[in-house]
Amino acid sequence: PAVPIASPDPRTVPDPKWEFPRSRLIIEQTLGEGEFGRVLRARALDIGGISGCTTVAVKTLKENASASELTDLLSEYQLLKEVTHPNVIRLLGACTTPGAPIYLIIEFAEYGSLRNYLRKSRHLESDGQIPCSFGSTPTMRPDTLVETECTTAPATPRDILSFAWQISKGMAYLSDIKLVHRDLAARNVLVAAGKICKISDFGLTRDVYEDDAYLKRSKGRVPVKWMALESLADHMYTSKSDVWSFGILMWELVTLGASPYPGVAVHNLFHLLKAGYRMERPENCSIQL
Ligand code: ADE
Repeated sequence: PAVPIASPDPRTVPDPKWEFPRSRLIIEQTLGEGEFGRVLRARALDIGGISGCTTVAVKTLKENASASELTDLLSEYQLLKEVTHPNVIRLLGACTTPGAPIYLIIEFAEYGSLRNYLRKSRHLESDGQIPCSFGSTPTMRPDTLVETECTTAPATPRDILSFAWQISKGMAYLSDIKLVHRDLAARNVLVAAGKICKISDFGLTRDVYEDDAYLKRSKGRVPVKWMALESLADHMYTSKSDVWSFGILMWELVTLGASPYPGVAVHNLFHLLKAGYRMERPENCSIQL
C-alpha cells in the first residue's frame, strides 16, 4: 500500500513569516465568487510592511469546498510565497489557524479582472469611434467621451500594448523561476492602480467566475479555449503551452475582452485546431500588430 508522504500541513504548522492575526483583518464585502471559492475585500492593519490600514483581497473557500480545493488553495499559498514581481499578484499574509476558514491575503487590484476592465471599456461612448482600434492609420483617442455606468477610462491602443508588455514581463519571470501557470487568461489577470497588470490565480486553482470558460470534467474544470494542442491531447503543460495561452490572451486584449473562437463549441475545438484552424485576425488589429 502507498505510504502517504508526510509534508508539513500549514493548518497545523503556520508559517511565522506569513501568518497574520485574524483580529487585525476587517472583512468588508465580496468581490467575486466561484463554485467553491470566494474573494473578499478587507482592510488589514499593519500588513506587508505598511503601518496603518491597507485595503486587501482575501481568498478563501466556500463551505461546500472539498479536500481537493483546499489542496489547491494551499498549493497557491506555497507558490505565492516564492514570487516577487511587479506584474505578478503579491501575497501579503495568510490566516491559517484552525477553527476558522483559511484566508490568503493578497494585494488589492482596484480595477478588478482585466477581462471585466476591457469589457467595461467598450461601453464608453465616444464620437461614434471605437475607443480602441489598431487600424493601419493610428486612431486618435476621441476627445469627447461620455461615460456610461463605469468609472474605468477607455482602453487606448497604448494601454492595450502596455498590458501585453506587462503580462509578457510577468510571464517571462514565472518561466524563469520554472513556474508553469496553466490558466493564463484575461479573467486571471488583475488591473491595479496605475493600470498595472498583475498575473494571478495560479497554483492550479480551478474555479469559475461568472462565465462558461471552463469545461467541467471529473478532474476539475478545463479552460479549453486557452489550451495548447499538447495540453488538450496529452495533458502536457510547459512554459510553451503558457505561451499559447498568452496568444489567446492577446486576442482577448485586441477584441476588448471577447470570448475566443466565437461560435465554436469546446468539444469541436481540438479537431479544428489539429486540422490547422486558427482564429482570424480581429478587424481592428493591424497586420503590423
Ligand atoms: N478579484 C479577485 N482578486 C482580486 C484582487 N486581488 N483585487 C481586486 N479584485 C479581485
